[in-house]
Amino acid sequence: MDICPPLILLQENGYKVLAATNGGDDLRLVMVELQGKIVRVGEGDLDVTVGFANRNDEIGDLGRNFNHMVQQLCESREEVERLHRAQMSRAQCLATLGELATGLAHEIRNPLAGIAGVIEIVGRDLPVTSPARAVVKDVRLEIAQIDHILTDLLQTARPRLPEVRPSDLNTTVEHAAMLVRQQVLSRPIRIELQKDPNLPTVEHDSGQIHQVLLNLLLNAVQAIDGAGVIRVEISLLNGDAAITVVDTGRGIAPEHLPNIFRPFYTTKTNGTGLGLSLARQIAEEHHGRIEVTSKVGKGTRFLVVLPLQQATAQGAAS
Ligand SMILES: Nc1ncnc2c1ncn2[C@@H]1O[C@H](COP(=O)(O)OP(=O)(O)O)[C@@H](O)[C@H]1O
Ligand SMILES: [Mg+2]
Repeated sequence: MDICPPLILLQENGYKVLAATNGGDDLRLVMVELQGKIVRVGEGDLDVTVGFANRNDEIGDLGRNFNHMVQQLCESREEVERLHRAQMSRAQCLATLGELATGLAHEIRNPLAGIAGVIEIVGRDLPVTSPARAVVKDVRLEIAQIDHILTDLLQTARPRLPEVRPSDLNTTVEHAAMLVRQQVLSRPIRIELQKDPNLPTVEHDSGQIHQVLLNLLLNAVQAIDGAGVIRVEISLLNGDAAITVVDTGRGIAPEHLPNIFRPFYTTKTNGTGLGLSLARQIAEEHHGRIEVTSKVGKGTRFLVVLPLQQATAQGAAS
């Protein structure tokens, strides 16, 4: 029989948290506190600490790991912001960001893995009928989200060189379009794809260009309130391959346009601001470029231009 008291929903500083109806189950209270604090970290509030860090047991270890991780995140963010304020050149900034990100990955991934491990054990030991299982599941999802942000940050700061191969750009783009179509099945958003059957093979890293298209398409989806259309077109443009992604979303104000490719620039509560910076970086690594035009209330058009052949491959071939 499950003797755990039922959980109730409380509002704490505008955040929904689960709380036990009595104070008997301290493990569940720990989980509840941890869940609330992870949600706040996920939303960018790095002023949080957990109270159970002063305990003298494994749960205390967990708490100290968590507080340490958040403190590291906070220090790294302040450092990154300081760098931006100093208006360093983009190349310099990315090099420093690379060093920071490597340190970050080390400082955060280890305690995060520790937290994930403890959560796993706690979850396994809970009775099947325990309502705390849902909390544990949420904590796991939030941990996965932090890990995802870290991966994006690392990719932006320490991009790997593209592994280019001559292949069909139509297929690369189509895969990304199909993936995003699956995600918007339940919404009145149409994704149209116009391939170019006559396009020669394009030397590209299909995984990286897939990532670029995903970032553009997801931004387009997120810019559409209600119904809308996203049109993706592949063509030959002055001897280069061109991919345009046009949406009927809310558009970008002219004063914000210069910022959108900057790392960490986001107008979304859950955004990382890394999608476009990564996309531009990948395009440039392919000796290509990304351009944007937008009209508030009408929509946005991104153009990705990629040379058919990479200069190094051309050089090697000749
Ligand atoms: N298609 C779009 N329509 C409107 N705004 C966009 C679009 N794509 C990007 N943006 C703006 O650029 C910002 C940066 O985008 P991005 O780098 O992908 O980060 P994120 O999506 O995490 O916010 C977004 O927060 C949004 O304000
Ligand atoms: Mg994005």
